[in-house]
Amino acid sequence: MAECPMNNGVCKEEENDLNYHSYLMLDNVLTSQVMQSAVKNKVVHDEHLFIITHQAYELWFKQILYEVDSVRDMFMLPVMDETKTILILNRLSRVTLILKLMVDQIDILETMTPLDFLEFRLQLSSASGFQSLQFRLLENKMGVLETYRVKYNQQHYTKVFSKSDQVKMLQDSIEQPSLFNLLEKWLERTPGLTVKSFHFWDLYKRSVERWLQDLLYIPAQKETDEKIKQSLIEEYKKQKESFDSILDEDKYNASVARGDRRLSHQAFKGALLISLYHDQPRFNQPSKLLSLLMDIDSLLTKWRYNHVMMVQRMIGSKVGTGGSSGYQYLRSTVSDRYKVFLDLFNMSTYLIPRDYIPPLSRSLKRQLSILIHEYMPRDPEDSDDYDLDDGTDDSSPEGKNVDSCPNEETRPKVKFEI
Ligand code: HEM
Repeated sequence: MAECPMNNGVCKEEENDLNYHSYLMLDNVLTSQVMQSAVKNKVVHDEHLFIITHQAYELWFKQILYEVDSVRDMFMLPVMDETKTILILNRLSRVTLILKLMVDQIDILETMTPLDFLEFRLQLSSASGFQSLQFRLLENKMGVLETYRVKYNQQHYTKVFSKSDQVKMLQDSIEQPSLFNLLEKWLERTPGLTVKSFHFWDLYKRSVERWLQDLLYIPAQKETDEKIKQSLIEEYKKQKESFDSILDEDKYNASVARGDRRLSHQAFKGALLISLYHDQPRFNQPSKLLSLLMDIDSLLTKWRYNHVMMVQRMIGSKVGTGGSSGYQYLRSTVSDRYKVFLDLFNMSTYLIPRDYIPPLSRSLKRQLSILIHEYMPRDPEDSDDYDLDDGTDDSSPEGKNVDSCPNEETRPKVKFEI
């Protein structure tokens, strides 16, 4: 037999045969819809839609995993290449668009009536979406915590996978750093957290105190109606306690140990710094990244919600083909336990109005700018560099040492007696 001439290991003749059909391997894809109702010689029309819908989902899961893996790889570099940030944003934003499509796609399957579904449901035997490997890989690679998962028939979800390659993929997805872990390390290195010219945490603490005084404490002192006064004081105490849970590192770490928070304290501070100063040029992209990660969490929660609504409509409170309680089990997964970036959502609790946000030191502002510094106009509102430690300024030759926020001297001194 004549040998086929090769090009990069591919037979040239085969290469020349490449066309739409062969490139997309449509022979495989389009012959993969085997209706069990047809196998049993009693075709149920809607089973076709049921199969196609699930397959479309699995293909989209595959694409999402491909994007998420590439983003994790970029984050995993020993020193993250900042020029890659735009690529990361682009890929994550692609993921959000796919997820939007997935959320909406449920509507199409809902055109099948519960009676139609009942026609072939028994033939699914014990097949269930619960056995979707790619869905579990996605959860793990994003960072869903094992301990937060809702138990399924008192079983670990991995028990439904027995093929060795599947078990290995699952194990790897549990052991390798998730997007959450990588984001946490990245946030811990947020520029501005450790510069000597700007003591973010001390300044933020003072600003919070000032804001709560202005908002609640001072009005309470001035209030003549005893009832309103008391309610303002109560609210002040509540707010203070809430802020203390992040301002006091020990309290914060205790909440991490309890499982109420996940991000390390340093990473949390990084995320807060980015959120408060997101209009600084070097924080624009990081803040977009945080926003996209929350979008992904929201969209996955929306998918879970739409899926469980469809399940209730299709099977009521019947048990699932995979053996779970069905609706009840799925309902319990539409919860914050599955929100990987919950700490970012909760961050808004600790945002303070713009007027109270401590102005950045000049040197940090320069660091976060993309302008060539010599040409950066001096803003009359610019704060001088702060130094709360030792009265020395490490980076700004003309920086005056001040130990308080600008305008603080003009504020009335309030004595706290609560
Ligand atoms: C008529 C349509 C559907 C019904 C009645 C249904 C029903 C169920 C039920 C009852 C469960 C719980 C596990 C069990 O006991 O079987 C489940 C889980 C699941 N289903 Fe569906 N499903 C439908 C469509 C889909 C579609 C289109 C997808 C897309 C991939 C899907 C993906 C999943 C996944 C990933 C799980 C696991 C969720 C988790 O454990 O958090 N399902 N489904």
